[in-house]
Amino acid sequence: MHYFEYKKGELYCERVPVSRIAQQVGTPFYLYSYRTLVRHFKVFNEAFEGIPHLVCYSMKANSNLALIRLFVNLGGGVDVVSGGELYRALKAGADPQKIVFSGVGKKEDEIEYALKASILMFNVESSMELRTINEVAGRMNRKAPISIRVNPDIDARTHPYITTGMKQNKFGIDILRAPMAYRLASELPNLKVMGIDCHLGSQLVDVEPFVEALKKLKSLVDDLRREGMEIRYLDLGGGLGITYNDEEPPHPYEYASNILEEIRSFNCTLILEPGRVIVGNAGILVSRVLYTKENEEKRFIIVDAAMNDLVRPSYYGSFHQILPVREEAREEIVADVVGPICESADFLAKGRKMPRPNPGELITVMSAGAYGFSMATNYNSRPRVAEVLVRDDEIHVIRKREEYEDLVRGEEIPEFLRDNSKFQSSNVK
Ligand code: LLP
Repeated sequence: MHYFEYKKGELYCERVPVSRIAQQVGTPFYLYSYRTLVRHFKVFNEAFEGIPHLVCYSMKANSNLALIRLFVNLGGGVDVVSGGELYRALKAGADPQKIVFSGVGKKEDEIEYALKASILMFNVESSMELRTINEVAGRMNRKAPISIRVNPDIDARTHPYITTGMKQNKFGIDILRAPMAYRLASELPNLKVMGIDCHLGSQLVDVEPFVEALKKLKSLVDDLRREGMEIRYLDLGGGLGITYNDEEPPHPYEYASNILEEIRSFNCTLILEPGRVIVGNAGILVSRVLYTKENEEKRFIIVDAAMNDLVRPSYYGSFHQILPVREEAREEIVADVVGPICESADFLAKGRKMPRPNPGELITVMSAGAYGFSMATNYNSRPRVAEVLVRDDEIHVIRKREEYEDLVRGEEIPEFLRDNSKFQSSNVK
């Protein structure tokens, strides 16, 4: 469900024609619908009504300050995975007591920063990390709140790059070794054990792996509680999938009802870390067709957005629907939609059946709100694009397009290279 739709042959975002925004900010740009974002967050959050829970938006999916603030305003917490994300979350006004810090490689300065900010807890992924957090907390005269991220060894049946809860993945502590880690944690003087955590992977379209993981976690918690440990939080991570093409992921209500059934009488606060399901279908990437060309074998649509703006198709072979902004009767063609970057992997769609776009016209790449801008780079020295939030009939630029000066910020030519008279070509060895 989203608020991008055609009205009289024109694609709108809520009450604004997409073409008007293109006129205003140029192309390419990311475009988010406020109503869609609010709706997705609320539906997800309300699905867990009835038990104590906290929705910690996984900001790696889209870390724009405005979006974080929006979810914070709706009562959301944040799942962060780096000092930089923590900085953004705090800057956006997140309540530190609703922030969880995940990730396999937290550095001491990041741990210190999070302790200073008094976050809710760290999701710890190894025994060594337990010891490091204990040390840093000791130096600061604090007790660090922690959960242990358990790897339940469950096949999430998604793309191998985004599966995280199996033995061969680097994430979490093997569920069989977890009791040992918990014992260590409760012996370390500067740690306070708060809960248990897991995350199976991303873009899951079945509810079974979640339920299976929950069962495994519950049985572990029962054992831990018998040993006298206090487990007050159970964090089930993120991972609920969305429809890009013809996937049929469970509705958040169905997902929630399966989980609630398992956990209702379990006496803990449930934490969820959704990313994609909240923002994925609330954003699109708008681009302009530059040229078209064809040879005997192929037809190419060359657009001004590229793999540096949206890497998912090149990186995971992901499917994103591509639509023209003007809807009209046209011939269907099969084409590769490609960007200007000097790599054959620079495509947004391959062998795609689509209505023939004309040079100069606008197209949109759908379902680009999650892992779109947040994975964008400056490759080929392309400034990162603008981000726009539409609310009803209002257009808000929530990140302006980068300029050429932004590309070289922080770079410096060292003194010894500046005087080029000393560098005749004959001197260069
Ligand atoms: N919690 C943890 C610990 C995570 O690692 C992730 C995602 C999430 C929550 C949120 O997962 P979601 O609800 O968005 O599925 N770049 C990839 C996705 C990588 C996901 C990484 N972890 C993509 O574009 O598909």
